[in-house]
Amino acid sequence: MQNLQIDGQRLWDTLMHTAQIGATPKGGICRLTLTDLDRQVRDWFKAQCEALGCAVAVDEVGAMFARRPGKNPNLAPIAMGSHLDTQPTGGRFDGVLGVLGALEAMRTLHEAGYETNAPIEIVNWTNEEGARFAPAMLASGVFAGVFSRDYAYARADRDGKTFGAELARIGYKGADKAGARQFSAMFELHIEQGPILEAEGRMIGAVQGVQGIRWYEVIVAGEAAHTGTTPMALRKNALIGAARMIERVDAIAREHAPDAVGAVGLIENKPNSRNVIPGEVFFSVDFRHPTESVLDAMEAKFRTALADVMPPLQLTYTETRIWQSPPVKFVPELIECVRIGAEKAGFKSRDMISGAGHDAAYIVRVAPTTMIFVPCAGGISHNEAESTSFDECAAGAQVLLNAVLEFDRRLG
Ligand code: GLV
Ligand code: MN
Ligand code: MN
Repeated sequence: MQNLQIDGQRLWDTLMHTAQIGATPKGGICRLTLTDLDRQVRDWFKAQCEALGCAVAVDEVGAMFARRPGKNPNLAPIAMGSHLDTQPTGGRFDGVLGVLGALEAMRTLHEAGYETNAPIEIVNWTNEEGARFAPAMLASGVFAGVFSRDYAYARADRDGKTFGAELARIGYKGADKAGARQFSAMFELHIEQGPILEAEGRMIGAVQGVQGIRWYEVIVAGEAAHTGTTPMALRKNALIGAARMIERVDAIAREHAPDAVGAVGLIENKPNSRNVIPGEVFFSVDFRHPTESVLDAMEAKFRTALADVMPPLQLTYTETRIWQSPPVKFVPELIECVRIGAEKAGFKSRDMISGAGHDAAYIVRVAPTTMIFVPCAGGISHNEAESTSFDECAAGAQVLLNAVLEFDRRLG
């Protein structure tokens, strides 16, 4: 493996440049999937890849693939990918580092005129966040055969706009069939989004797998009525039911601590008027744990809690589990390439499990896959204050390139 060095300054400048697309006043990014801002960053990304001589293809769910040929066209490409969409109060690194770190690795190969054995591909997966269209990891899920294309097209945001219509509107409903491409491997570089690497003074996380995730939606139905005239005993206040469940969700996760987590993140109160008793409330629930049987237990407690809380308040409800992403284990040979790549770059690595969901968790079903983590300050993510340093970003991109080249060497 030749000793190729990525350019940390070029990577940082690129990160800061694209952070202007959807920049928020507090220094983060709001670039929800399939918005005009998403189109803008996609167009920019495509132009940058084409400037390196890469051919850029788009599949039917908007995933973008920028390919640099290798010596052996019979080998499936080695992919490096993540996502360019963000949360509404997103930081500058979640997902973005994985795509732009891959672009930096590609630029380094291009400048050096280095010929890999396999083709190398950068992937930008659509709607990883699940913030606009639930569930998360939608394009990688279609690619891996977890969801059908039409299921993805039919997902609607809270305004009723569908994924399919928005994809066509921004001009990224591509021609390639999702999942028809093959990868020799996929490496996803990402910030840890947790506090462990920073606390232990390690630069690189060699990610072993991803914990299981379950998402639910609940609609609580009561009766909208006048706040001034309706006696307390006669109220059917849907927001009280939701409030009690928010406490229960938190308590269920705490019962299974330290590994379990749980939260209500999205809530809509109707009609949301200060002198109307809430008649209907929508809320989402997110439970996570590395073990499926514990998630089963948490789910059972959640359902029992709903059945306990609502009837005494004279409320009815519907509950739907809308997403279940089981715990995932990554592929040992690729994890070894990451460890070797970290060592070669002079960084201490540590094995770890991801608490966040990632496209890699679906791609591992169809191709050997793993992830590389770098620290983020205080473990803060899904927050405009998200912060990963110049050196940490550069370290991640270097280890990504090293790991890809180590794997490529083995294919030769
Ligand atoms: C994705 O960002 C998730 O972990 O929810
Ligand atoms: Mn992410
Ligand atoms: Mn995220």
